[in-house]
Amino acid sequence: MKNVLLLSIILTSTVAKVMGRIDNSYVYVGRAVNLLKELTAGRRVIVITDENLCECCGELIQQYEHIIIGTGERNKSLESAEQVYCELISRGADRHTMIVGVGGGIVTDITGFVASTYMRGVEFGFVATTLLAQVDAAIGGKNGVNVAGYKNMVGTFCQPKFVVCDVQLLKTLPIREFCAGLAEIIKAAIICDPMLFKVLEDKSVDYWRDNLQALEEVVRRAVEIKLDIVSKDEREAGLRRVLNLGHTLAHAIESRPGNYYNHGEAVAFGTVMVARMACSNGLLSGNEAERIVRLFESYGFKVAFPFTADLMEAIGKDKKRENSTLHLIVPTAIGEVKDMAVTLVELEEMFNK
Ligand SMILES: NC(=O)c1ccc[n+]([C@@H]2O[C@H](COP(=O)([O-])OP(=O)(O)OC[C@H]3O[C@@H](n4cnc5c(N)ncnc54)[C@H](O)[C@@H]3O)[C@@H](O)[C@H]2O)c1
Ligand SMILES: [Zn+2]
Repeated sequence: MKNVLLLSIILTSTVAKVMGRIDNSYVYVGRAVNLLKELTAGRRVIVITDENLCECCGELIQQYEHIIIGTGERNKSLESAEQVYCELISRGADRHTMIVGVGGGIVTDITGFVASTYMRGVEFGFVATTLLAQVDAAIGGKNGVNVAGYKNMVGTFCQPKFVVCDVQLLKTLPIREFCAGLAEIIKAAIICDPMLFKVLEDKSVDYWRDNLQALEEVVRRAVEIKLDIVSKDEREAGLRRVLNLGHTLAHAIESRPGNYYNHGEAVAFGTVMVARMACSNGLLSGNEAERIVRLFESYGFKVAFPFTADLMEAIGKDKKRENSTLHLIVPTAIGEVKDMAVTLVELEEMFNK
């Protein structure tokens, strides 16, 4: 059966907790070393990872043949993909080889793109090593690279065979990257889970960092939310667009040359912007808009982004634009969002208010 979602959590063994699946793609929350061994047993595995991961996840990576890519958004490019294709060819990787991306969203996006196009597609899986990749980037089967300043312009919809989310790997994650993942969790709560939003309001960054066991539950919930939405609309014909809450401005910020902000920080700006916009259009109450802004602030995010002409130009490059109209996902309550069509001119006016 296609697009079946298992929402029940099954304990398969002491090491593996099966979360749920879309099609034949499974997400596991548990310990990566053991899970990866089980999931790839009997297969030739080539790991794709980045320079930093070789240091902090050396024990895991050294067990497999591996290819290393550069870090940072500018390496999410066709050039990096081509380097990986060439290495795969020179290593004699064939259709039976299992490609495993071990890393954050940059690694998983490139790995998924390369694996789904190399020899017209080979099986692949992910070990997500950033919080952001565990709750978002590695889940859902969207893979791709940036081209000519356009974010995620070239890519595929192709589900990994498995995604492993191991919160223990987050111990070495720099604090800024840890917070970036929390931004996507806040986003998921705003879209459809007021209870999760409340839990996040009651806790802090330090709490989650010091209580990885508790964080695992939140990761599980965020994965459930994403799987639920993606299983109903894998190709983003409609419903899946809700996951783009805050992402129009976020992608514009990330596309600007010399951008300083990471994806989660950009999503925080973008979500606050649409919450304020929804409030000033009478779609969201002042109280709820305030709660959204306060939650991001309390997790250390900046919530005001200087509006400049080049930002507007970057927004105009959003690939989800239809002529001069953008479809923004805006919150109408905590736990509810809707699609709002705005023209670029209207958006500029709102920015300048
Ligand atoms: N495909 C999707 O559906 C989707 C969804 C959301 C985001 N994304 C993409 O994901 C990317 C961002 O991903 P990200 O935030 O994971 O960034 P990232 O992959 O750049 O990782 C952030 C940094 O953390 C390092 N790192 C990773 N794991 C570590 C660990 N365990 N310990 C120490 N350091 C570690 C990396 O080397 C990197 O320097 C963006 O390109 C974004 O567009 C894709
Ligand atoms: Zn995102």
